[in-house]
Amino acid sequence: MPAATQPLTARPAWKALEAHHQKVRSVHLRTLFAEDATRGERLTVEAVGLFLDYSKNRVTDETVKLLVQLADESSLRGRIDAMFRGDKINITENRAVLHTALRAPRGAAITVDGANIVPKVHAVLDRMADFANRVRGGAWVGHTGKRIRAIVNIGIGGSDLGPVMAYEALKAYSDRTLNFRFVSNVDSTDFVEATRDLDPAETLFIVSSKTFTTQETMTNAQSARDWSLRGLGGDPRAVARHFAAVSTNAAKVAEFGIDTANMFEFWDWVGGRYSMLSAIGLSTMLAIGPDHFRAMLDGAHELDEHYRTAPFDKNLPALMGLLTLWYADFFGVQTVAVLPYEQYLKRFPAYLQQMIMESNGKYVTLDGTRVPCDTSPVYWGEPGTNGQHSFYQLIHQGTRLIPCDFIAFVETLNPLGRHHDLLLANVFAQAEALAFGKTADEVKADGTPDWLVPHRVFEGNRPSTMILAQKLTPATLGKLVALYEHAVFTQSCIWNIDAFDQWGVELGKVLAQRIVPELEGKDEPRLGHDSSTNNLIRRCRKAKSRG
Ligand code: F6P
Repeated sequence: MPAATQPLTARPAWKALEAHHQKVRSVHLRTLFAEDATRGERLTVEAVGLFLDYSKNRVTDETVKLLVQLADESSLRGRIDAMFRGDKINITENRAVLHTALRAPRGAAITVDGANIVPKVHAVLDRMADFANRVRGGAWVGHTGKRIRAIVNIGIGGSDLGPVMAYEALKAYSDRTLNFRFVSNVDSTDFVEATRDLDPAETLFIVSSKTFTTQETMTNAQSARDWSLRGLGGDPRAVARHFAAVSTNAAKVAEFGIDTANMFEFWDWVGGRYSMLSAIGLSTMLAIGPDHFRAMLDGAHELDEHYRTAPFDKNLPALMGLLTLWYADFFGVQTVAVLPYEQYLKRFPAYLQQMIMESNGKYVTLDGTRVPCDTSPVYWGEPGTNGQHSFYQLIHQGTRLIPCDFIAFVETLNPLGRHHDLLLANVFAQAEALAFGKTADEVKADGTPDWLVPHRVFEGNRPSTMILAQKLTPATLGKLVALYEHAVFTQSCIWNIDAFDQWGVELGKVLAQRIVPELEGKDEPRLGHDSSTNNLIRRCRKAKSRG
């Protein structure tokens, strides 16, 4: 039987990795470095301006060889080609997966259902650029003739996290005379706080929703419409000057009352969490301008080409995906921390949480059977150095193994005295401390009293990967986004899961729809939930009527 058709855990590479894991699982990184003076230079890959040092991972050359063999036995190359080609690899929704087409150069040709989609992508980009230039340049004015000064993106999940992350990440490149806000939560506090100091005459709302049916977004959009009209004298024509929409669903946009001339389209072959470089990035383009936006697309495209063509042992996303799979499936690792040493990337971990966990948080394979191993670990993180004074204690001395991705830049965008050297010193020091720790002998040699020694020992052998780039630019951000997107895809191919659907979010949505009238109805509802849910609903109804 060809390896790819064998169950994952029966493949030769999987079996070999199991045996190999027995041999290497207790080998310390200290030993690996002591035995190979060149390890820190050898176990690195540099491509498209990103330098990946994976030497502080618990791997040997044999591990990498076997992981690449597993990728080959899982037909990774063929699956990558199928994705880039536009095959309908999102099988549960019968959709192509072509976020890579969003950053394809103008002349490229990618066919979906018989039509080349690249000209459509560029037509929307051109419309976005025109709109962004008019708003940024003051040619686009509000209903009362005033310039737009505030832009509020309304969206949730992929229609929020990418835009927020990119806005924060690229603030240094943004037009500081414009004020950007992001409203996502159905909790009214989000909308109220975001708009409390804004002038409706100067505010443009972008309603971003792939489906244009999402409860949170439509509720916020309705409140925004009411807020605008209240502030602009109630003339419904004002909506056309103060609302734009980004969606795949023109009918719903029109039904909501937004002029489809102000609608920027994307397509069902762009997954929500893979959409920040589509029209969903309109707020980003308004902030940084069309040229920087295109530079971000070009950066992502460079990384796409690298992923598509580089051999897996020199392939940044393939290696990153395989390393995490090694920890998740052979070391039983439950979580991975992403730790950017760059304040502008403060929302990057939150962005990755959706991209990674909504993609690979699955237990069913493409065949409908249960996966025979663990799939995605939990992702979380905060910028360094802040995290060092918070949860790093657990990473250094806790009982769990938590691989870390460090992201650092040689140059800062805000040079100030010694700050940047201190920042870099910290990120390198953390990776070193995690890997090598501090032995009891070393602790004793410092003069530590015997009783205190165990508390001050660092076992080390805690893995990390360092991603180093020159400077945070729009192009670098595009590369980082594509790097993680493809690392996620790499894993999904090996686990044989559909990384592009998200059925796991549906049940809660349906149940919430059922509970809304039970909370709001005047008459006491007949409740048919479990006793806990029934009790919670009754309790709130009573408390509300008293309140
Ligand atoms: O609830 C999950 C989800 O479907 C995400 O996948 C998506 O990014 C988000 O909701 C928002 O969806 P939409 O853009 O259609 O409003």
